[in-house]
Amino acid sequence: MKFFVDTGDFDEIKKLNETGLVDGVTTNPSLIKQSGKDFIPLIKDICKIVDGPVSAEVAATDYETMIKEGRKLSKIADNIAVKVPLTPAGLRVCKELSDDGIMVNVTLCFSANQALLAAKAGATFISPFIGRLDDIGLNGMDLIGDIAQIYDNYGFDTQILAASIRSPSHVLLCAKIGADVATMPPKTIWQLYNHPLTDKGLDAFVKDWAATGQSIL
Ligand code: E4P
Repeated sequence: MKFFVDTGDFDEIKKLNETGLVDGVTTNPSLIKQSGKDFIPLIKDICKIVDGPVSAEVAATDYETMIKEGRKLSKIADNIAVKVPLTPAGLRVCKELSDDGIMVNVTLCFSANQALLAAKAGATFISPFIGRLDDIGLNGMDLIGDIAQIYDNYGFDTQILAASIRSPSHVLLCAKIGADVATMPPKTIWQLYNHPLTDKGLDAFVKDWAATGQSIL
């Protein structure tokens, strides 16, 4: 399972990248706003330090402008995945860019039928939003399961990029279902490391080692 960081915070991306466990980055207009940075230079900087796919989202909603924005974004670096919304115009852009060998991440997916359309449009990634479905009383995880089954039925190459993840238990359930990627806020990635028994056990080992008076180096 691949881990992407879902943030526009360059320092957080840098720190997490140093763990060696980060496979890519996703951003969206709200995260760019939160970062307070200029979009294009920020994406350029991220692409310089992250080897895997970096999702950069178009801002327009009409086909003509989206396709121009998508082509411009795709030229920033080889590892750009152009992010487009799951609308008829967005999927038209997806098909065109995908046919040209450009990675495309189709975002704002809330139903399995939408995911089916994105796969048919050649999307590299489909981003179903788990947390936002949970927020309105639906079960986001059921959507991940449905998409996995449908993609499996037809052998689609589109990768399931579980998005809007709010907790480590979301990550666990996605991994059990077999989502290809989980994109998470930095905080959730750091939370994955935690277990009280790890801390307790390590404290005891450190104390006992000190009591031996030995040194490895
Ligand atoms: C995915 O690419 C989105 O950026 C993100 O996961 C949305 O998450 P949110 O619902 O927490 O805003």
